[in-house]
Amino acid sequence: MSTLRKIYYSISPSQRLWARRIAFLPVDFWETITGKRSKDIPPRGMIYTGAGSFVKAGNLYLSFFRKYGDIKPNHRVLDVGSGIGRMALPLTQYLNTEGSYEGFDIVETGINWCKRNISTKYPNFHFRLMHLKNDLYSSDGQLAKLFQFPYDNEEFDFIFLTSVFTHMLPDEVENYMSEIYRTLKKGGTCFATFFVYGINMSDKIITKPFFTFPVDKGYYKLLDPKVQSANVAYDYNYIEKTLSKGMKLKIFIPGHWTGIESKETINDFQDIIVFEKN
Ligand SMILES: C[S@@+](CC[C@H](N)C(=O)[O-])C[C@H]1O[C@@H](n2cnc3c(N)ncnc32)[C@H](O)[C@@H]1O
Repeated sequence: MSTLRKIYYSISPSQRLWARRIAFLPVDFWETITGKRSKDIPPRGMIYTGAGSFVKAGNLYLSFFRKYGDIKPNHRVLDVGSGIGRMALPLTQYLNTEGSYEGFDIVETGINWCKRNISTKYPNFHFRLMHLKNDLYSSDGQLAKLFQFPYDNEEFDFIFLTSVFTHMLPDEVENYMSEIYRTLKKGGTCFATFFVYGINMSDKIITKPFFTFPVDKGYYKLLDPKVQSANVAYDYNYIEKTLSKGMKLKIFIPGHWTGIESKETINDFQDIIVFEKN
């Protein structure tokens, strides 16, 4: 693990948010006064949800939702762990007025930014803050393993989680998958990213993986023993047999975090899994 990453994990969740704001202050100031940053996207210091281009990642995932998840413009969509609108923003250009979007997250700055900058322009986009604990993102709150989503049974056509289960522990993911099953319509789709191991990739060229997960718990592995939600990897069989909660695991697309080299199969850094509720 890099030294910078180690330092980042050693501070509290709110200090992590502040550290980022301070580190990006000069570039955010410059981009604001020169008009280089579109007002429709958050300043870099506020983007706590992943590296790389915010806009490109959103557009790429919208293309995956269409290609693998069969999302339609009139769908009712749930974004679990909606962050600071990285996926919601491109969806504002895709969902029509018959479609609608719900997002929830546990970090207040992200939810507030989305309410101010997205819901005011797109009234069919709603964001909610949930007070839940996660040792990477939120020091206090209720336990995610007991949390019930604030939505009705069979309400959604499409539910997605991008880079969220990679920061949640097994009992939490199991509860969320049960809630996804409950809130998905029959025939609905759940699109989620994971770090997956235990799948045969002997036909692929594998070089050096970006992450190794040194803490082996059998059916899951951790990157860091102290900040357990920092990054979590799951065994494929456990996902298919236990986490799927009666849904069909329809698609598995390996990501390049493993060091996989085959061009056709590479889509993004994390692995993609699509489940279908029959
Ligand atoms: C890497 S970010 C990804 C955010 C967003 N999905 C995206 O792709 O831009 C992980 C997100 O998961 C959220 N999160 C962590 N634990 C959660 C939980 N139990 N319920 C909902 N969101 C959670 C974090 O607050 C954070 O916004």
